[in-house]
Amino acid sequence: MDTHIVILAAGKGTRMKSAWPKVLHRVAGLPMIDYVLATAARLEPKTTTIVIGHASEALRRVLSGHRGVTFVVQEPQLGTGHALQMTEPALRGATGTLVLVYGDVPLLTTETLRGLVDRHVKAGAAATVMTAVLDDPTGYGRIIRSSVSGEGIARIVEERDASSAERAIREINTGIYAFDLDGLFDALRTVAPDNAQGEYYLPDLVAIFRKQHRTVETVVAADTNEIRGINSRQELAAVSRIVRQAKNDALMAAGVTLDDPATAYIDGDVTIGADTTIHPVVTIEGTSAIGSGCEIHTGVRIVNSIVGDRVTIYDHCLIVDARIANDAKVGPFAHLRNEAQVAEGARVGNFVELKKTALGRGSKAAHLAYLGDATIGANVNIGAGTITCNYDGEKKNKTVIEDGAFIGSDSQLIAPVTIGKDAYVGSGATIREDVPPGALAVSAGKQRNLEGWVAERKKKRTALAGPRKA
Ligand code: UD1
Ligand code: CA
Repeated sequence: MDTHIVILAAGKGTRMKSAWPKVLHRVAGLPMIDYVLATAARLEPKTTTIVIGHASEALRRVLSGHRGVTFVVQEPQLGTGHALQMTEPALRGATGTLVLVYGDVPLLTTETLRGLVDRHVKAGAAATVMTAVLDDPTGYGRIIRSSVSGEGIARIVEERDASSAERAIREINTGIYAFDLDGLFDALRTVAPDNAQGEYYLPDLVAIFRKQHRTVETVVAADTNEIRGINSRQELAAVSRIVRQAKNDALMAAGVTLDDPATAYIDGDVTIGADTTIHPVVTIEGTSAIGSGCEIHTGVRIVNSIVGDRVTIYDHCLIVDARIANDAKVGPFAHLRNEAQVAEGARVGNFVELKKTALGRGSKAAHLAYLGDATIGANVNIGAGTITCNYDGEKKNKTVIEDGAFIGSDSQLIAPVTIGKDAYVGSGATIREDVPPGALAVSAGKQRNLEGWVAERKKKRTALAGPRKA
């Protein structure tokens, strides 16, 4: 039997107080709707339709990478029933089960959805509602069961339309449903906006199907966390915390030490090898992959980067789009970005920035350097204060430093320039021309010492100042 997914995401998300559509706000690095799409995709649906409305262009743009997704625009937004109605043309001729979820429930699992669909199909129901029993049901639609229907569901009443007795009911509508497509859109056409909000309520379908003597099933969610919707920044933070905690638990179960799981911010797609230790307040984002036996110290942020085995990253480094090979050491206070590469056993020290630069095997840039657009060979020593002057005001130029070269401290290498194999550059040099292999390049003038210069100057100054005032 076919499964079709509909995701509602047209609402404004007023309580987020945001210019952005709510479902694009990120939970542990990914837009919240991405979680819902991934969960839905694992059901292998025949079609996936997203109902958009508020800020629809931004949504369409960000979600354009998801293949096989159809967008339906709901404009204006007249309620959840109206939203589903908008999908009728897209689903014309479709049969089987329609699974409806909101775009703001990132914790929902595929297993839970599968349980819903199984129950729905087995019961041959027109609709199956996922419900939950909450200590505090405030704000949700309440499930009204009746003895007439053998304690089955009779209808759903929204909080604003509920009597005080109905408000005391703690079983709520999660907003997650399975529907039989047969007769669904006909029934939707009979929903009327005769309620406190003047909206077309999707939950009204329950009473409509009951009147038609069709079966309406319920499934009670086992884990009430899963059905949590995000409506505010506070809820966004709370759900993010749950997602991060689950990721951290999985990492620890796989042999990663997290000194302080509460301050380890590790995105879902990140991989980390066993026996790596993550110290407090570390952020690892995107598609980063960290090897085993590494030490990542406090305050480090790693984004979309590959780190090998037994790498040490000392405190407070920013590493973006970089590769660090086995046994390398980086930091403290280093900045690696834009295709920076640190080869095996190389060392990048404090206040060193690498941009689009490859630092070869065993090479060292231990202090205070800017290395941009450079290819640096093996066993090179980059002295403190070395700058590759890669930008001439118009374009970026390359610096090549061959194996075994030694760059003295406080040197400027004005690109394009090549320092040959095993060559030396004297301290304080400004290098404009290529240095041949094995050569020593010095550019600072010969040193002169002017004996007695300080005392001379003092004498001159005193003479110029004239007699002192009393
Ligand atoms: C809805 C249910 C309520 C349930 C609750 C669970 C209705 C009338 N009420 O209430 O029984 O307990 O969800 O969270 O359905 N949306 C659209 N178009 C619209 C209106 C809403 O796409 O015209 C989308 C929103 O973007 C959101 C979802 O539908 O993703 C729910 O809308 P919301 O207004 O939050 O419904 P609730 O009042 O919370
Ligand atoms: Ca809601």
